[in-house]
Amino acid sequence: MSTNADARAADAPTPDIHDEAILIVDFGSQYTQLIARRVREAGVYSEIVPCDIDPERVRAFAPRGVILSGGPESVAGESGPRAPAVVFELGVPVLGICYGMQVVASAFGGRVAASATREFGYARVENLDAGGLLAGLSDDQSDHESCETSQLDVWMSHGDKVDQLPPGFTAIARTPHAPLAAMADIERGIYGLQFHPEVTHTEQGQAIVERFVLGICGCHGLWQSDAIADDLVARIADQIGDGGVLLALSGGVDSAVTAALVHRAVGDRLTCVFVDNGLLRENEGDAVMAAFGDHFGIDVRRVDAGERFMTALVGVDDPEAKRRIIGNTFIEVFEEEAGRLTNVAWLAQGTIYPDVVESAGAATGKADLIKSHHNVGGLPAEMNLGLVEPLRELFKDEVRALGHTLGLPGSMLNRHPFPGPGLGVRILGEVNASYAARLRRADAIFIEELVAAEWYDRVDQAFAVFLPVSSVGVMGDGRRYEPVVALRAVQTVDFMTARWAWLPFELIDRVSSRIVNEVDGISRVVYDVTGKPPGTIEWE
Ligand code: XMP
Repeated sequence: MSTNADARAADAPTPDIHDEAILIVDFGSQYTQLIARRVREAGVYSEIVPCDIDPERVRAFAPRGVILSGGPESVAGESGPRAPAVVFELGVPVLGICYGMQVVASAFGGRVAASATREFGYARVENLDAGGLLAGLSDDQSDHESCETSQLDVWMSHGDKVDQLPPGFTAIARTPHAPLAAMADIERGIYGLQFHPEVTHTEQGQAIVERFVLGICGCHGLWQSDAIADDLVARIADQIGDGGVLLALSGGVDSAVTAALVHRAVGDRLTCVFVDNGLLRENEGDAVMAAFGDHFGIDVRRVDAGERFMTALVGVDDPEAKRRIIGNTFIEVFEEEAGRLTNVAWLAQGTIYPDVVESAGAATGKADLIKSHHNVGGLPAEMNLGLVEPLRELFKDEVRALGHTLGLPGSMLNRHPFPGPGLGVRILGEVNASYAARLRRADAIFIEELVAAEWYDRVDQAFAVFLPVSSVGVMGDGRRYEPVVALRAVQTVDFMTARWAWLPFELIDRVSSRIVNEVDGISRVVYDVTGKPPGTIEWE
């Protein structure tokens, strides 16, 4: 985003939610995005920038405080990246985390050395702080009163450590291996933590982040869903002027929230196109039409293109070929529909912040290498549409909260993720309409039972998979050879790794008998007990 230092400097009576921003300088830690999320959870806007950022951009950003992230390199070796001097010249509080603390120590004349004992994982630190950042925080249970100092349960992950404080700093926490596990120069507002407050294993982590951004930096916590909604609506209206906007609605959270926001900003100048590819979940199309068409009164053009997709998929059994065909057919259908519209000047997309901060880029301290996340591929060049991406600054949980504020149904916001190619990659091998119909029903039964047993929200993704093999079943007096359905349910934080969910046997049993009894043409149900790795979440 572009911030406006001049506007900020002026005596603005109503603070803009972006006026109070925390700048996060990324040194390549795997946790940098978590820092940004914690700051946002504290109600303060935050933005991640690479450590070699142009100093002028930092000044223009005019942050209320700066956080220096962790990182894989070594300050001790002198070769590791340093913070741009400007962050210490702004006169705002600075918090260095892990590598960031070492950067602070070295910038102010302290010493960093490779530690003989590396600390990775859980640690207990003694809280020595009487001043501000950690003062009074404790994870002691019963004997707190009897201890002279309190203890904090934290997450450590470091090799190097600060072994000599810079002049003016005091130690505010210690462990047996790291006597300088945290430091502060209260006068200058400069802090360092060897441990990671952004990681949930650090019990008081959120409290520490709030101390920093609300207490020490003096932010007011203006970054809240209703204020974010108002701000985004005003900015969309500003960007779009009086042009028409086109949006591809998928049924997913990001495009749904984008539609609701843009509609609030431009009303009936928004047209949504919803392509039913015949590979959606049960009732998905009707639910989208009910929420957007009936409830919000948005102009949604539904295109029933199931047959076209099925025809394009005849004879194709390679998963990547199926993905390509489904993607390309979607673009063709969307383009045709878009071509019928007049007065469209903008294309709205549900790109969110993690799509923007390319994860590979963040890991190398190049978090501002922007990956343009085109959910919708090439539209006819002659349409020459401008891009509107109102969720570019938001994390997924913020998008959900915003959706609630905008009045979207919880069932739509809290739904498990669904892959773009839909049931196309959940029918192994060649896809056809009959397989899709059976799978859709089996999947719906599984989901219904998960909801009824209050397990739906305890797993992160659950679905049925269609295995077109002939397995024997005995129906009445006869033997029948029919396909199999596999049930998959996983628990995961980031979908990069996952464990299979230990669903109650009674629940699996209920699902299995309902599927075999209610869905014609399924002889057998199995439950997938493969983790990721070695498996993947989807079967193709
Ligand atoms: P895997 O199977 O790779 O899935 O463990 C991880 C997550 O990604 C989703 N997924 C996809 N999403 N298009 C998508 O939009 C795809 O082709 C695709 N393949 C997998 C999957 O549902 C899970 O959430």
